[in-house]
Amino acid sequence: MGLLDGKKLLVTGVLMDSSIAFHVARLAQEEGAEVVLTSFGRQLRLTQAIAKRLPQAAPVVELDATSAEDLAALADRVREHTDHLDGVVHSIGFAPQSVMGGNFLAGEWDDVATALHVSAYSLKALAVAARPLLGRGSSIVGLTFDARYAWPVYDWMGVAKAAFESTSRYLARDLGPEGIRVNLVSAGPVRTTAAKSIPGFEAMEGGWPERAPLGWDAHDPEPTARAVAALLSDWFPATTGEIVHVDGGFHAMGL
Ligand SMILES: NC(=O)c1ccc[n+]([C@@H]2O[C@H](COP(=O)([O-])OP(=O)(O)OC[C@H]3O[C@@H](n4cnc5c(N)ncnc54)[C@H](O)[C@@H]3O)[C@@H](O)[C@H]2O)c1
Repeated sequence: MGLLDGKKLLVTGVLMDSSIAFHVARLAQEEGAEVVLTSFGRQLRLTQAIAKRLPQAAPVVELDATSAEDLAALADRVREHTDHLDGVVHSIGFAPQSVMGGNFLAGEWDDVATALHVSAYSLKALAVAARPLLGRGSSIVGLTFDARYAWPVYDWMGVAKAAFESTSRYLARDLGPEGIRVNLVSAGPVRTTAAKSIPGFEAMEGGWPERAPLGWDAHDPEPTARAVAALLSDWFPATTGEIVHVDGGFHAMGL
């Protein structure tokens, strides 16, 4: 018996095989789920190629999480592959370089707005777009980087994550009566395309392996992907609005 036997899942955010979402999709398939991926624009072909590296090649539907047209079409596009969804993974993040890397005070609204739109509001947008396919017992899971703190170089992406975390709680409130859970995994630093696009990302990684009581390997997305799979499963039936830290215990330590 797999943890996710028979589940139908929509997984956003597979860009490369380093993407956290790639490992979520891989594990989910290994645990018995059927997976549909999303991608957009020029990344679509890349995702289609990477999708063939999964244990079972997965279909890819088009979704730019900031496109009203794509969001409106999402349920019908997914219905070409499955009649319902048991889970949705939000693994989407982007901020222009001008609002990261030590540019907090120089950040201009247009670029900050892009960060908030893609990285925070998109959770609400995705949840509402997928809602017609979601029933009681289904689960939405997203990925955050602990937004309680001001980190080196994360800047407006950190603010976007604070909004993202708050959005997940409001979604938990409004979708709970429909039996839909909404939870986040707060991961430690993982070396992905998004991470490497943050100027000075090494400053965020600094000290993590030493300070985390369990240690931490930024090249290993597996612990993060496992936690996402667990939250998608039936083993957290009464948990919503929660943030599960997968960071080697870093968040719980003082100096
Ligand atoms: N890598 C880390 O250290 C780390 C730590 C904690 C949380 N996270 C979060 O994990 C999630 C996945 O990031 P990752 O690290 O796997 O990097 P990644 O670059 O592999 O994935 C980011 C994804 O966001 C997608 N995306 C960007 N703009 C989009 C849009 N408009 N519409 C739809 N998709 C869009 C990209 O296509 C890409 O697949 C992000 O939310 C990120 O903030 C990452």
